[in-house]
Amino acid sequence: MGVGAEFGYGRAGLTRQNDWPVGDDKVEVGWTLARDSWGKGYATEAALASLAFGFGTLEVSRIISLTTPHNVRSRAVMERIGMQEVATAVWRGIEHVCYALDRSSWPAAGVVVPEVSVRPA
Ligand SMILES: CC(C)(COP(=O)(O)OP(=O)(O)OC[C@H]1O[C@@H](n2cnc3c(N)ncnc32)[C@H](O)[C@@H]1OP(=O)(O)O)[C@@H](O)C(=O)NCCC(=O)NCCS
Repeated sequence: MGVGAEFGYGRAGLTRQNDWPVGDDKVEVGWTLARDSWGKGYATEAALASLAFGFGTLEVSRIISLTTPHNVRSRAVMERIGMQEVATAVWRGIEHVCYALDRSSWPAAGVVVPEVSVRPA
């Protein structure tokens, strides 16, 4: 999902990370925002919409999210959307933490899921 004009607010969405070395679950939810879009909840909202699409439309059984241990803002997004830390591993030469959420636990208690509309191709 991409939003905004010119440089944009940022992006969030699902990516298959086939080279993540732990387990069989490779579908990752990720996000990056322009600096002046931080602190407004955009990453959380876009991440929840991505999870809704992954669990609801694609029927993925488990979605992961990967970041470096010191990336506290990204870890905070993972925790806000109901994910839990499940693993650490070196990925692409850098230590990463892995958070995960199962479809059976979606949506996590207290999480308000934005409506997702799917545009036909
Ligand atoms: C990771 C990143 C996307 C997180 O951005 P963020 O602004 O912290 O996260 P959100 O958009 O979910 O916003 C949450 C903040 O908005 C606030 N907020 C305001 N309205 C909100 C709402 N309606 N819903 C949720 N949060 C809201 C929250 O209280 C929180 O504030 P805080 O920063 O004071 O704790 C951003 O730091 C980034 O792009 N970093 C660089 C790239 C990067 O590291 N990407 C991830 C690689 S793994």
